[in-house]
Amino acid sequence: MNDQPLTDATSMRSDLCGSLRITDVGREVVLCGWVNGRREHSEHLAFIDLRDRSGLVQCVVDGARDLRSEYVVRVTGTVQPRQEGTVNDELETGEIEVRDCTVEVLAEAEPPPFPMHERTQVDENLRLKHRYIDLRKPRMQRNLRTRATVNSAIRRAMESQGFVEIETPMLIASTPEGARDFVVPSRLKPGSFYALPQSPQLFKQLCMVGGFDRYYQIARCLRDEDLRADRQFEFMQLDAEASFVTQEDVFTFINAAIRAAAEAVTGERPGEIPTMTWHEAMERFGSDKPDLRFGMELVELTDLFSETEFNAFKADCIKGIRFEGGAEMGRNKLDGITDDVKSWGGKGLVWMKVEEDLSLNSPVAKFCSEAELAGLVERLEAKPGDLLLLVADARRTVQMLLGRLRLQLGRPPVNEGGFNFLWVVDFPLFEEIDDAGNPTPLHHPFTMPHPDDVELLMTAEGEAFLDIRSQAYDLVLNGWELGSGSVRIHRGDIQQQIFSLLGIGPEEAQAKFGFLLDAFRFGAPPHAGFAFGIDRLTALLAGEENIREVIAYPKTQSGADPMTQAPSAIDDRHLDELGLRLAPQTD
Ligand code: AMO
Ligand code: AMP
Repeated sequence: MNDQPLTDATSMRSDLCGSLRITDVGREVVLCGWVNGRREHSEHLAFIDLRDRSGLVQCVVDGARDLRSEYVVRVTGTVQPRQEGTVNDELETGEIEVRDCTVEVLAEAEPPPFPMHERTQVDENLRLKHRYIDLRKPRMQRNLRTRATVNSAIRRAMESQGFVEIETPMLIASTPEGARDFVVPSRLKPGSFYALPQSPQLFKQLCMVGGFDRYYQIARCLRDEDLRADRQFEFMQLDAEASFVTQEDVFTFINAAIRAAAEAVTGERPGEIPTMTWHEAMERFGSDKPDLRFGMELVELTDLFSETEFNAFKADCIKGIRFEGGAEMGRNKLDGITDDVKSWGGKGLVWMKVEEDLSLNSPVAKFCSEAELAGLVERLEAKPGDLLLLVADARRTVQMLLGRLRLQLGRPPVNEGGFNFLWVVDFPLFEEIDDAGNPTPLHHPFTMPHPDDVELLMTAEGEAFLDIRSQAYDLVLNGWELGSGSVRIHRGDIQQQIFSLLGIGPEEAQAKFGFLLDAFRFGAPPHAGFAFGIDRLTALLAGEENIREVIAYPKTQSGADPMTQAPSAIDDRHLDELGLRLAPQTD
């Protein structure tokens, strides 16, 4: 057999609709596709727009009464220039049309359940119920191709760096990523369940013990968590792990993959990806995933108000942001953002409008001294017409509130402002102290503490735990968390210490992660890794706000698939076989 030809022609067609140009004039072509629309010109003359994955072309046919939208047809005709005055600049094939056509109907079609042009907003459920029709639209064609481009660029980048693709199992025991597991009942061992992997985390670490020092996988992960614009139950990660490496080596590997993917989609190679500590990100942007496409940084004001008479500002921390040109905001809107801040857990919000003479117009200005007001103007670099927004509270609370407000007021739309990647490093090891006094881990419990903080780990008490840094890092793009990773603990003594701090006793540790701990006793290399979400990366590169738009068959917000009706009941025989009985529904 011959090798596949490298053209778009097949036994049934000669060209793709969208590929025809003025240079094709005179050629007889055979095209296959869907009828996008038709216009009756006279009794014997009609135009149809024929559509395939490459785009549209106009075909002149002898009468199209039998042809309806979305019929699948095969058209044979000759490429001709369009008559003067009928050239369509909006269409890539707009200079030509296909004339003298004979049309063969390959399949009839019922009228589509929603309009095929992109101008009409179609209900999400209806789109997903007939996803196969939705997929025909240029937006979805473009998005899924972008996704394939991302995947193949990532694969090439990882392989050219010596990474080996290893597949890890889907039916496993639980992984420690912190979300709820999806479980699968076992037929052979009734009453027992597999968990579907939340990530390949433990298996990839075991690959390191197994001597594969550069592993990668484009891995499907499953997490039973509340769905949002950037979250689905099922999603894909570029998952990687390497041995005998530091954090910097991991950045090099991942930068290569990320930059290759971005370049393959946009045609432009992103510059070096900068690094910022978690502490700095929280102080300046009030977020561990700062959107660097715009300024509005949080400005430190605590010292300015150290001797203030204003009761609301007698607090641990005061910060402010400057909303450029925001002084036009009316009273309703100002009350609205104050209410927002309160609904996020704040005590209130101070606003000040900057006047022409740089005086500050605010109901609370009278409680502040001249020096405080002048200090505000200077620190926040206030200009006439700006709005200053100030919050006083515990430091973490101030950061969180102003970080949210900054995004609400200043964030550009998803497809504007370019692509601002950022590595956030030195995450704290622990997130908070729980009621039992145990610190809770921010990442999984195999994250290595920062080398300078190992001693503190052995001696810390209470709140001091929150100062311990880890060797965990995130990759951020335009305010979205793209991925996370860490240097792992490969030393038994440190792992023991972490487990005991987390309140995980030796028995529980053995029951949950025994196989990993056992493996580590047989010679574990120092190792580190990372995973980033391919759905999220693709969505941002495609200018989409919701990862559903870059997934062929996603779930709705409520976790359903309107097309296949999943999730659905299973019959009693099947339940019996699995040894399951349903509890009565109580809703
Ligand atoms: P983490 O849990 O941070 O790390 O996940 C890594 C990345 O996966 C993506 N992601 C999701 N995408 C869509 N829907 C979801 N529900 C979802 N959950 C996560 C995000 C996220 O940044 N094993 C570790 C990595 C490591 O330490 O090597 C892990 O899975 O883009
Ligand atoms: P109050 O003293 O509660 O009447 O508040 C006076 C003004 O200060 C109101 O505009 C409040 O929204 C604001 N405010 C109160 N507490 C805080 C705070 N912790 N941070 C910022 N503004 C506050």
